[in-house]
Amino acid sequence: MNRLTTQFWTGALVLGGVALFVLSLLLGEEPGNPEDPDSFLTDRLMYVPPLPVPPDNPLTPQKIELGRRLFYEEDLSVNGSIACATCHEQARAFTDGRAHSAGATGELTRRNAMSLTNVAYNGVLTWASDTVVTLEQQALMPLTLEHPVEMGILGKEETVLARLAAEDDYRKQFADAFLASNPAITLDNVLLALASFERTLLSYDSPYDRFLAGDEDALSAEAQRGRVLFFSPGFNCSRCHDGHNFRFTPGTRQGEDDTSVAFHNTGLYNIDGQGGLPPEDRGLLEVTGRPEDMGRFKAPTLRNIALTAPYMHDGSVETLEDVLRHYARGGRMIEEGPYAGDGRQSPLKSELIGGFELPPDDLAALLAFLESLTDEHFVTRNDLADPG
Ligand code: HEC
Ligand code: HEC
Repeated sequence: MNRLTTQFWTGALVLGGVALFVLSLLLGEEPGNPEDPDSFLTDRLMYVPPLPVPPDNPLTPQKIELGRRLFYEEDLSVNGSIACATCHEQARAFTDGRAHSAGATGELTRRNAMSLTNVAYNGVLTWASDTVVTLEQQALMPLTLEHPVEMGILGKEETVLARLAAEDDYRKQFADAFLASNPAITLDNVLLALASFERTLLSYDSPYDRFLAGDEDALSAEAQRGRVLFFSPGFNCSRCHDGHNFRFTPGTRQGEDDTSVAFHNTGLYNIDGQGGLPPEDRGLLEVTGRPEDMGRFKAPTLRNIALTAPYMHDGSVETLEDVLRHYARGGRMIEEGPYAGDGRQSPLKSELIGGFELPPDDLAALLAFLESLTDEHFVTRNDLADPG
């Protein structure tokens, strides 16, 4: 994407957003009249805030292009075996279809690889941390973490950078992207470039977006009914998956998450009757040490969700239908094995996971709505694909 296109899209998004917002004010409707199910559709107030870009890493076409190349670069892993894109494939909205992914040395990741759809807007990053807050900071983690090893370059950074510096095009691309810095091929600059590319992973061209923009035919009648259910009290989906990205929480539409309300326990586990999670991953508690944070994870974006199975932080739910059944039951029942327990009875479960009736036509409607969030353009666009 060149600078003009970037500016055009940012401008178009902002203008479009402002127009929608003003329109909704003119209509003057308050969401939430029980006589009228459509009045719960808070997405009519949806708008896309300006792209958050940190002042110390301004977006430039040169940096975005370099970041794209690095994102697909296997030489960024210790033994040249995997790239960021190995676990974050464009065709799957930047996930990899596995519950756990293999790192450079074959060790499996503890968690499910996350979609990078509109990741620029996520004020907190990874499944359960309130301290990882920038893409620059996050990109260092897969490169250097050791338990388990993902790309495995800790202690070998110089070797990896020398490998890049041995290539003429990289020397030129780094010099173009980082005019003022010498040497230009540094780990910091790798992180700045990767984060710049990630900020361009923007997806606003799904049937649902076209519907919101006024094309009534973009959603089937079934998907339109699913949309109403999604936003209705009782289902509560939009209480946690809200805003233009389906992950903001009400009141935090400014492009940054309010971390105090970004994490929830959805009743997936209850291995000891006290709301316990499997010892290998207990959620936000691991970072904060607060007992009430056991099993709390970030509500992820639902954009492109039909492409990103399996689901949840540990990939333990295989299909969208199973995710909906979990919510309908008000928590997951695991009948046997070391994780047996009834998630519905978890004392740590969010009060918003109350369960609901799910007759087959409502299930089909919700699935049709979730499928309407798939942006085919995003997963095939050349400017996000491997440049090599
Ligand atoms: C071996 C597989 C693997 C590789 C390689 C990998 N990732 Fe990831 N990625 C994951 C997993 C697993 C998570 C979830 C981590 C967690 O929650 O602890 C994740 C999470 C993320 C997130 C957080 C998204 C969000 O919304 O919170 C970003 C951003 C990201 N990865 C970018 C990258 C970049 C950039 C690279 C290359 C430098 C990379 N990843 C390499 C598996 C991988
Ligand atoms: C209390 C907040 C909350 C409510 C209500 C809620 N979700 Fe979620 N949702 C989450 C969280 C948190 C996760 C991640 C949980 C995990 O990984 O353990 C999640 C995960 C998901 C996923 C899997 C995402 C992925 O990338 O793996 C889907 C799909 C989903 N929710 C859809 C829905 C639908 C549909 C509804 C309404 C029926 C709903 N959610 C209601 C918080 C919520």
